[in-house]
Amino acid sequence: MKEVFNLCGIVGSVGKSQTYEFLVDCLEKLEYRGYDSCGIAVNDNQIKINKSVDGVKSLLDLTILSGNLGIAHTRWATHGKVSLENSHPHICNLKRFAVVHNGIIENYREIKDKYLSEYYFNSETDTEIIINLFSCFYDIYHDVNLTLNKLIKILVGSYSLVIIDNLNSEKIYFIKNGSPLFIGVGENFNTIASDVNCFKDVLNYVVLNDYEYGYLSKDQYSVYFAEKEVKKKEHELEITEDVYDLNGYEDYMLKEIEEQKKVIQNIMDNYYDFTLNKNLINKLKQTKKIYIIGAGTSYHAGLIGKVMLDELYNKEVYVKVASEFYYENNVDVENAFLIFISQSGETKDLLKCYERFSKADSLVITNVKNSSLDLLCTYSLYLYANKEIAVASTKAYIAQILILFIVRFNLKHDFLIVDEFNKLLDSVTDIYQQKNKFLEIANNMKHTSAFYIGKGIDYFVCLEAALKLKEVSYIHAEGLMSGELKHGSLALISEDVPVVALISDKKIETKVRNSIEEIKSRKGKVFSIVTENIGINDDIILKEVHDYLLAIIMAIPTQYIAYYTAKRLNLNVDRPRNLAKSVTVE
Ligand code: F6R
Repeated sequence: MKEVFNLCGIVGSVGKSQTYEFLVDCLEKLEYRGYDSCGIAVNDNQIKINKSVDGVKSLLDLTILSGNLGIAHTRWATHGKVSLENSHPHICNLKRFAVVHNGIIENYREIKDKYLSEYYFNSETDTEIIINLFSCFYDIYHDVNLTLNKLIKILVGSYSLVIIDNLNSEKIYFIKNGSPLFIGVGENFNTIASDVNCFKDVLNYVVLNDYEYGYLSKDQYSVYFAEKEVKKKEHELEITEDVYDLNGYEDYMLKEIEEQKKVIQNIMDNYYDFTLNKNLINKLKQTKKIYIIGAGTSYHAGLIGKVMLDELYNKEVYVKVASEFYYENNVDVENAFLIFISQSGETKDLLKCYERFSKADSLVITNVKNSSLDLLCTYSLYLYANKEIAVASTKAYIAQILILFIVRFNLKHDFLIVDEFNKLLDSVTDIYQQKNKFLEIANNMKHTSAFYIGKGIDYFVCLEAALKLKEVSYIHAEGLMSGELKHGSLALISEDVPVVALISDKKIETKVRNSIEEIKSRKGKVFSIVTENIGINDDIILKEVHDYLLAIIMAIPTQYIAYYTAKRLNLNVDRPRNLAKSVTVE
């Protein structure tokens, strides 16, 4: 495992008559990996390049480049600012080879000094070093395979590369190391990309492993490892529906919020008897210590998982933010079990934890088959949430909680799980019917700050609700323990700070209601979201579900509130500023 991962999406295609348009289409599906800038190179007996800093679609406003072989890139800036010069593809000084790169080269300075002192550079990127190094060694070996193999020996860092040659309009070359790369096999065309979900017209796909390299032409591909050809297994591509179809919705975020009922149903279908792998369950039963590891929203789902597992009494359960856990001292994973929660399965902070603690057995709860964590962990459980496209996670969060619920059920059969799923479906249906009320609350989110308050599980949902509001509406929001308000944060309350209180637990109802009164007597405006057995004069009343699933029904209204607030502010809800869907940098 390499030290550095990088965002960015790369794709190449050979054999399509409208390669340029095809690559634009693929890039749109890869934009979740970064959307600062993009570019395409097509080989039409000469490499021609178009770049843009105005989003992938704008590539269609430029001259459409003809040719049936090309490579493309969508970028999330790491080395160098967002500019056309820094956008990929990059071409070598001799204008013969062009590359798209996903990763970071750590020894680029040494390479520049040792091999490329005579070369000139147009960008601030490490990628230009790679393509000139390639060109430099090709001049010595006159053989692409030897050159690729030499690059693997010299480059340090992560570098999934797709390369084209001006003098060969039939082959695309590649190396995979660090960042994901897959070959898509079509009829009379082949493609290669960072994510199988961008594949169109592809029948089968091949998962590439680190340090594999090779080429693809329109009717063939070859993969090598350390100068030996490797026979690769082809997997059937299961894309059951066009996940990129908005189905009449204005944005993916709303579509995904409203798909959550379908996700619940999908999970019921895919885990039809709710019996998980025996070895996994035995391991979990035997282990005394469980670490649940996640980042952002997935960490918030982990907090709910801890509540479920804590009630088994015989285990120590810890929930860890991956970026912190990696640096914790005195962590003893001897006889511990790790549960990674990651929608993408690619989050760098989690991969680093895996790397450090890999001697412990592990389970990943992920939405992406063949993602890095899926391939690394001992066990995998899938979310079956279909692809999540909006940057703000919604349906993956509820799916993560449901999978944890199924894990918990397998450890102790103390409820009727099908009944609980059915009750949940009923409650979510009811939530969808209350949309106007969420819109009303969102209309009050018009100040620079907002708070979500709650206790216990509700507090964990408050953390998620605040994150959602922040990331799509850019309003400063915090999730607070209601009991902690009086210890400091109450100082911030005024009529300009809307507060949303979540109450799903009858036992602590009066405590949270006391906090609400404290806020109101300081002129604060409070909206309450509560469950049926608590609700009286509350703003939103939700139908009861199993205690472990309360987080799901409490969270959905807050997803709507974030969505409607961002829409009112005319923001791009699917692609909030400065973010990317899959965070493969530290
Ligand atoms: C927020 C959000 C992020 C992710 C986090 C982890 O809406 O989506 O906080 O949850 O970046 O990503 P995964 O789950 O892919 O590891």
